[in-house]
Amino acid sequence: MGKLAVLASGSGSNFQAICEALTPGPHVVVGLLCDQPDAQVLNRAKALNVPSALVPYDGSTDRSRQVAERRMELILRKWRPDIIALAGFMRVLSPAFVGGFSRRIVNIHPSLLPNYRGLNAIRRSYEANEAMVGITVHFVDHGVDTGEIIRQEALARREGETLTELETRMHELEHRTYPEVIQSLLGESDGQSGEDGAV
Ligand code: GAR
Repeated sequence: MGKLAVLASGSGSNFQAICEALTPGPHVVVGLLCDQPDAQVLNRAKALNVPSALVPYDGSTDRSRQVAERRMELILRKWRPDIIALAGFMRVLSPAFVGGFSRRIVNIHPSLLPNYRGLNAIRRSYEANEAMVGITVHFVDHGVDTGEIIRQEALARREGETLTELETRMHELEHRTYPEVIQSLLGESDGQSGEDGAV
């Protein structure tokens, strides 16, 4: 049995897709960490009976991020995840935090990286009239959307497609792809969280 923790900030549709794909097991979602008090993902966690913890932070200073990340580390130490999945977690994690979970934090980004790193990737690729768009699942490193790529899936833009229609197709693709990658990683890392208190 592999254990997954999810970090999310917003709607949580990927979180829900992951939880549903992992049910009934053998892998388990041990908890959701969220940084936004009003995020819909918190309601989804409740409805899905997944433990959740809210760690709000303004992130405007290194100090505030350090304090929040320390709290997150303590929570994760209790949950002992094998893999940590960022699912719309709109924060940049510090090198110290990422270094503590080497090759165990993954992220999904709605572009064919290295194109369109950062915010509003779908809108920017749409407005640039890219013929091919897509999604990337990657390990998290010290940069923004720069870590080693695990999997990419592309979509061809359709003639006359609106931004909303494209967003819907991109999210559907995310909901199919991310759980698959996570299941595979959980299978590989099964039991690595150990019993020694290391996360
Ligand atoms: C997803 O499209 C995800 O790829 C994106 O945020 C959305 C979250 O949706 N993540 C990023 O842009 C990260 N740079 P959700 O809250 O419904 O899962």
